[in-house]
Amino acid sequence: MADVLQKVVEESRQGEAYAPFEGDPNEFKKKFYIESYGCQMNFSDSEIVASILHAEGFGATRNFEEADLVLLNTCSIREKAEQTVRNRLQTFRKTKENKPGLMIGVLGCMAERLKAKFLEEEKLVDIVVGPDAYRSLPGLITEAEGGQKSVNVLLSRDETYADIAPVRLDSNGVTAFVSIMRGCNNMCTFCVVPFTRGRERSRDAESIVNECRDLFDRGFREVTLLGQNVDSYYHSPVDGETVNFALLLEKVALIDPLLRVRFSTSHPKDITDDVLHTMAKYHNICKYIHLPVQSGNTRILNLMNRTYTREWYLNKVKRIREIMPDCGLSTDVISGFCTETEEEHQDTLSVMELSRFDMAYMFSYSERPGTLAARRYEDDIAEDVKKRRLIEIINLQNNHSRESYTSDIGKSFEVLIEGSSKKSDADWCGRNSQNKMVVFRKNDQPLKKGDYINVKVTSATSATLLGEIV
Ligand code: SAH
Ligand code: SF4
Ligand code: F3S
Repeated sequence: MADVLQKVVEESRQGEAYAPFEGDPNEFKKKFYIESYGCQMNFSDSEIVASILHAEGFGATRNFEEADLVLLNTCSIREKAEQTVRNRLQTFRKTKENKPGLMIGVLGCMAERLKAKFLEEEKLVDIVVGPDAYRSLPGLITEAEGGQKSVNVLLSRDETYADIAPVRLDSNGVTAFVSIMRGCNNMCTFCVVPFTRGRERSRDAESIVNECRDLFDRGFREVTLLGQNVDSYYHSPVDGETVNFALLLEKVALIDPLLRVRFSTSHPKDITDDVLHTMAKYHNICKYIHLPVQSGNTRILNLMNRTYTREWYLNKVKRIREIMPDCGLSTDVISGFCTETEEEHQDTLSVMELSRFDMAYMFSYSERPGTLAARRYEDDIAEDVKKRRLIEIINLQNNHSRESYTSDIGKSFEVLIEGSSKKSDADWCGRNSQNKMVVFRKNDQPLKKGDYINVKVTSATSATLLGEIV
């Protein structure tokens, strides 16, 4: 049971991204295949990489066996994420044995963490490229074609890829992710991201707004603004307007009332009343916040260097609900961080009781080499204790999710149609403003992807609302 739950949790944050051929496949001289793991930033980066490769005459394929270049965009957040990538590389080993010309590249956070060591550890890898070095891919590919293994893992203080128009991979044509900043300055002690993604930098506001407007003009109806800590977005050009996150949200919301705006992820210490009031002011800014708590105990939060206390977090939740009573709320939780006692674990459960999250991503602590926690603290909670605590957290969250979803029965929501339901072509699916998935009968109404429709909820599971068109 525990393993099954853990698997569900891990898989909820990883997957594969493909791009179908656009236009005539013969127009491309070579083909690439890309798979992405980890957070939405990685999926978004794969779209930048696809754009860079397109310009080099590479077309995308969904079938790695017909690719000339196989790329894995990797994640280092937990040991398991890295193991998944290593297993996947074994699959490609066989393909490469039959096709010696096949080039294999590793991108993303694991590339950055392991650098040239990757080439020694995984002999079949030809190219290793870190998150800030994707512009150098064409040169690295040329070197690799010449038989030379190549690495570029330089982190940058200013790279934001602002001028590269992403090629939307595996898109539903309705929702898209737009990266607004890169890196992270927060130094949470458990976290590898500051080491793999470097210093925080914000992308210029005008290029963000232009990208969102262009998406809207092409029929997209929802953008999610992405960053590790979106609330610290800050762009201040010498000759232009200073834009903070609240102002950026407003600028994107003003593109068109029919364009929904979401964002991820917020850090509890940085989300301001200004942001909350901006959210409340615009109907098209979705009433949903992902606010990772990590732990409900102040001593553990301090060891994690989260820079807020249990009370501060609970106050933020209160403030969100005061300003937006209908706001959806989700979180991330880590069980079994270094030295966590049973009582401190109970504090996490009680913070969940008090906050009543609609949804959560839940993990057991995984020590990452080089992080502050790995250097300072002993990873002293036994694996079975971490797992048991995680199961208690997951069980409690399942109850809360079920309660949250069933309490929506009888309510009506505006839903943005994303496409046919995965289970049945007779149903549409889409999200409400609170980010809950809603499934409902098509009923021969003349609707299409990208339309808004009011749906009344008639029943619910702990992850989906079922309803009918009002
Ligand atoms: N920038 C985001 C989170 C990015 S990582 C934020 O600060 O909220 C996504 C989640 O992975 C984190 O919120 C945390 O819950 C989890 N995580 C990160 N490092 C971890 C580790 N070493 N072990 C277990 N979970 C971890
Ligand atoms: Fe990691 Fe903390 Fe930065 Fe999030 S805010 S990416 S958890 S260091
Ligand atoms: Fe993973 Fe890197 Fe994202 S470590 S979670 S892919 S920033």
